[in-house]
Amino acid sequence: MGGGRIIGWGTALPEKVLTNDDLSVMMDTNDEWITERTGIKRRHIGGSTASLSVESARRAISMAGVDPASIDGLVLSTTTPDRTVPATSAAVQHALGLRCGAFDVNAACSGFVYAYVVAHGLLAIGAKRLLVIGTDTLSRVTDWGDRGTAILFADGSGACIVDGVPDAGQLLGWDLDADGSLEHLLYAEVGGYIHMDGKEVFRRAVRIMVDSGRKSLAKAGLGVDDVTLCVPHQANVRIIDAACRQLGIPMDRTATVLHETGNTSSASIPLAWFDAAERGRLNNGDIVLLVGFGAGMTAASAVVEWRQP
Ligand code: UT7
Repeated sequence: MGGGRIIGWGTALPEKVLTNDDLSVMMDTNDEWITERTGIKRRHIGGSTASLSVESARRAISMAGVDPASIDGLVLSTTTPDRTVPATSAAVQHALGLRCGAFDVNAACSGFVYAYVVAHGLLAIGAKRLLVIGTDTLSRVTDWGDRGTAILFADGSGACIVDGVPDAGQLLGWDLDADGSLEHLLYAEVGGYIHMDGKEVFRRAVRIMVDSGRKSLAKAGLGVDDVTLCVPHQANVRIIDAACRQLGIPMDRTATVLHETGNTSSASIPLAWFDAAERGRLNNGDIVLLVGFGAGMTAASAVVEWRQP
């Protein structure tokens, strides 16, 4: 059984930018509070889950320099599909001109790591080349009158092409978890807005990120000192800071883009990961720890050995 290797990536953010000052006109909040309590300065709003997915995927396909016809599976992580039926991956597949199996994965903000791990399962049973996308358009399910959630959520997309390789590949360890008894802490009814118990989500998020990150590292036979870069879910800089501190990973070995993106759910880990790669923060052989949490409550982490495409 072989593994997988990323040969190209792409990201997409809507053009429209909403700053903290813009929000303070819409509701009782201010730039100082949002910056201090979350680390977010601005976020991008707009587009559909399919349109952002197509944009990031086209960039990934172009960077990989592959024929779209050679892709034999599409896994799209999203918690904000454009329709209830069919899966948004169908529209993305058609727009990209792919002829392959396509399906959505919904594990909320842990979704990209779930999709990335599932893709490796497909590679292990014979798939050759997969397109993995994480996209969310949370602005469509955000109550813009609720300052407890509207300051956090936004839209974006990140994608990568993962090729099957005969060796063990890049994925050295992984952990997927969920606790459905905590569903009530963060949810949206079909057609409704997101409801969140922010304080409780915060408290549990730190614990489950630390727990999941440790499990993945143990499966990979590695320790925190081996981690070159931690790529956490971009929800709140205070959550990232607390989780990384408990894991023993200093902030200068952590990727953050949330000051610019807000919380983009499925897109947050690929946006931060590929931003770090584009800034030259990753070299061959570096160990990357992806670690996310989300509604469900889900948790997901993966230990990845970086190989420059
Ligand atoms: O992908 C997973 C998604 N969810 C999360 O990651 C959410 C995790 N939770 C959080 O990030 C934080 O709990 C929030 C950012 C949502 C809230 O921060 P907090 O530090 O937990 O604030 P708080 O709710 O305890 O509120 C503190 C104070 C309160 O005022 P009083 O009672 O102390 O007078 C709030 O009314 O801040 C007030 N407040 C605000 N003030 C200005 C709450 N929201 C705002 C706001 N602007 N937007």
